[in-house]
Amino acid sequence: MSNISRLCHAKQIVTVNGRFPGPTIYAREGDRVIVNVTNHVQYNMTLHWHGLKQIRNGWVDGPAYVTQCPIQTGSSFTYDFNITGQRGTLWWHAHIMWLRATVHGAIVIMPKAGVPYPFPKPVQEPEIILGEWWHKDVEVVEQQGSMLGLAPNMSDAHLINGKAGLFFPCRDMHTYALEVEQGKTYLLRIINAALNDELFFAIAGHNMTVVEIDAVYCKPFTTNAILLTPGQTTSVLLVANQVSGRYFMATRAYNDAPIPVDNKTATAILQYKGVPVTVQPIMPQLPAPSNTSFAMDFNVKLRSLNSPQYPANVPLNVDRNLFYTIGMGVNPCPTCVNGTQLAASLNNITFEMPEIGLLQAHYFGIKSVFTLDFPDNPPVTFNYTGAPLTANLGTSLGTRLSKIKFNSTVELVLQDTNLLSVESHPFHLHGYNFFVMARGIGNFDPAKDPAKYNLVDPPERNTVGVPAGGWAAIRFRANNPGVWFMHCHLELHTTWGLKMAFLVEDGTGSDESILPPPNDLPAC
Ligand code: C2O
Repeated sequence: MSNISRLCHAKQIVTVNGRFPGPTIYAREGDRVIVNVTNHVQYNMTLHWHGLKQIRNGWVDGPAYVTQCPIQTGSSFTYDFNITGQRGTLWWHAHIMWLRATVHGAIVIMPKAGVPYPFPKPVQEPEIILGEWWHKDVEVVEQQGSMLGLAPNMSDAHLINGKAGLFFPCRDMHTYALEVEQGKTYLLRIINAALNDELFFAIAGHNMTVVEIDAVYCKPFTTNAILLTPGQTTSVLLVANQVSGRYFMATRAYNDAPIPVDNKTATAILQYKGVPVTVQPIMPQLPAPSNTSFAMDFNVKLRSLNSPQYPANVPLNVDRNLFYTIGMGVNPCPTCVNGTQLAASLNNITFEMPEIGLLQAHYFGIKSVFTLDFPDNPPVTFNYTGAPLTANLGTSLGTRLSKIKFNSTVELVLQDTNLLSVESHPFHLHGYNFFVMARGIGNFDPAKDPAKYNLVDPPERNTVGVPAGGWAAIRFRANNPGVWFMHCHLELHTTWGLKMAFLVEDGTGSDESILPPPNDLPAC
């Protein structure tokens, strides 16, 4: 635990090596990474390496009760893994309760030695971690959202590299500044580590060139603002080509639904070398909080690089079609203040966490931990984005997994519904990257919408924003055996049950099965 102060307010937070945000992991593609974790706090802990595929090695993936039992107070676990076939910006975070609010950091994966970037070489590559801050203990906020059956407090600030910036109290100690030299090129490795907010990010007076998302190179394009859902990462080139001065970098939520509108803006400073700090910085134009057309346009511009060196390999034939509705409902809750509790669901199933790791249960054949009957389609078909249909508010609880054949190609359409609220949902799949074939507003039409798919260079990533009142279609090849979590990366919605897991079977080849577990894997 560390005692830290933000916005003139001190509190105890959970930190890694006493740092907030936590330390950056620098590695090269092909490296073996060994992280020894000892838990010195009163909470159970696990760490997840968000976006690393962990081929055949789900044991080190990190989501509590999915791939491992938590590391208990006073215990240790060593995460030992290889980084294969990935390069770019990812991040790590706690994957239990809401502890990732303060337990997170960047993962910077350099290309193999001697392999250049497919874009101009930057002089510096700073990490820009966007976060969220509550005055309250985050575990208390989480309780509001679970036990009380209420919507919990909105965060009190957004943060850039752990600091809220000049529009918040005690600002002087808490503003991040990046010093740049006139004419030089920088690579900003931007991470959305916020719990519940999709975020815009912009720099006054400067355009950014997007070159990589979720550790996959993309076709470069220039923009004055970017958008990241929680979980997503975006690397941009920034050329310090403006009048020598001081410019704000700023971040604010994109929120299509929540009331009240959250318009608190965190800032940092882009500081040209030699410019006195007394110069007043200029503010960038951030898209308005409800600017959905910016969000849609921005996402359409994201395309895989798809070069001979970095081909896209989009699955063109689909072996298994899945259609999951994202719903919000109300479930009975005897211990809750109102007797009911908000529950989020996929195909009307609210995922219930087991008491031991699903991967262990699968690997060691421990019975009655989960069932393999997660449905490929919702129980009823209706107008998902029309008027709320109360018959569909009810959800059932279950630890139900979907079983997938090794190496089969899967298409999953995630359809948001308009049952209680309409809100974007950033869906993250563990163990894989997937291709985002298309996104749309309204009901997905299986007869017409596949014609809109980008079969050539769709963006490849690990987290996709399912538009509010709309859908996203993704494809992946199930070539990584194991139990892999999929969930909304809005922590509140994960708490409410917006999650499920895939069981990808072993293949028949000797290198197509789940590796044996590490010796120090924690027991429950
Ligand atoms: Cu970034 Cu399952 O998490």
